[in-house]
Amino acid sequence: MNAAAQSIIAYCRAGYEVDTGNELTAIATARELYGYPAFKPGDGFVRFQFYEPDHAAQFISQVAVHDTIFPRQLFLVLETIQIEDKSDRIGPILDALADAATGRSGLLFVDYPDTDEGKTLAKLCRKFAVPLRQALRARDLLSKKEHTGLPALHVFFTSGEQCYLGVSQAKQRSPFENGICRLKFPPKAPSRSTLKLEEALLTMLSAAQRDAICRPGARAVDLGACPGGWTYQLVSRDMHVEAVDNGKMADDLMATGLVDYRAEDGFKYRPQMGHVELLVCDMIEKPDRVAVLMANWLTRNWATHAIFNLKLPMKRRYETVTAAIETVRAQLNAANIKASMVIRHLYHNRDEVTVAVIREK
Ligand SMILES: C[S@@+](CC[C@H](N)C(=O)[O-])C[C@H]1O[C@@H](n2cnc3c(N)ncnc32)[C@H](O)[C@@H]1O
Repeated sequence: MNAAAQSIIAYCRAGYEVDTGNELTAIATARELYGYPAFKPGDGFVRFQFYEPDHAAQFISQVAVHDTIFPRQLFLVLETIQIEDKSDRIGPILDALADAATGRSGLLFVDYPDTDEGKTLAKLCRKFAVPLRQALRARDLLSKKEHTGLPALHVFFTSGEQCYLGVSQAKQRSPFENGICRLKFPPKAPSRSTLKLEEALLTMLSAAQRDAICRPGARAVDLGACPGGWTYQLVSRDMHVEAVDNGKMADDLMATGLVDYRAEDGFKYRPQMGHVELLVCDMIEKPDRVAVLMANWLTRNWATHAIFNLKLPMKRRYETVTAAIETVRAQLNAANIKASMVIRHLYHNRDEVTVAVIREK
């Protein structure tokens, strides 16, 4: 076991290492697991080093990526591998796995950081994954067919000479390569923002929640709707949308007959029929103001569920988000509303996080 053991790796958007580190520290401390984040700003990942031998494993078995804000992927480090002989990158990995006695995994990720430098490793990772997979299968360290229910092996290259080797559990990890949910831009959508709501609907809601909430004929309100990227997602699911904004909505969307455009202030608007299934909000405003507005809609039962973005400040982003979320949670608790809250810095987000508040039945 080398120095990086007793640690976990979290991928994040480059520039969000401090926030990721702050969040991991808070989550670990709340579980009485202690350590510190190690990172270089702009590297697109954080290694969180624990003090006690089994704390990293405890953290990784208790914390799912889905329940965090900034991490895109999380895995337990088994070893840092320095590649001295570039003609044999596989040998050191097999040796380390033999030492760690991990047993058979169901899946292999060969990833790299989401940075300009990291992208130069994409080809290496793609090419390397093929013989590595074969070598792992030959030693029964990887199942013959992909098995998403089993633990996964992670090889995370930070340069051509160094990679971290690790493992994750099925329920705790992101299913995506590099922790990134890649989506194709729908050609008829009026703005790239559409991908934010699409990613949120696909990754933050379960299939059952999605089907129940985004069902044909259900009503939604979109605050700060123009030019209509979010409304497009809802209309594509045959929902009726009250689109609120002073800007201009895309003509194609208006032609669907499913959009009721309202040139009004999103902070004063009320649903036309007194209630909608889903409130979405992408207004660029102070996070605490948006949090109060969302809490009001939910506690007054103007909307059953809400999906909204919170703009992030330049500094103290983790603290800002948690304070805004606390506002919503406190109001829901006071109104005795049971709801799940997922808060994610999505791949298609920039300086904002997306929050999904889904009321329990
Ligand atoms: C980031 S854009 C929304 C993009 C939209 N979600 C899409 O996918 O096309 C923010 C929008 O919020 C609107 N906005 C900001 N403050 C508002 C307010 N108080 N009431 C209504 N709309 C507001 C702006 O006019 C702008 O169109």
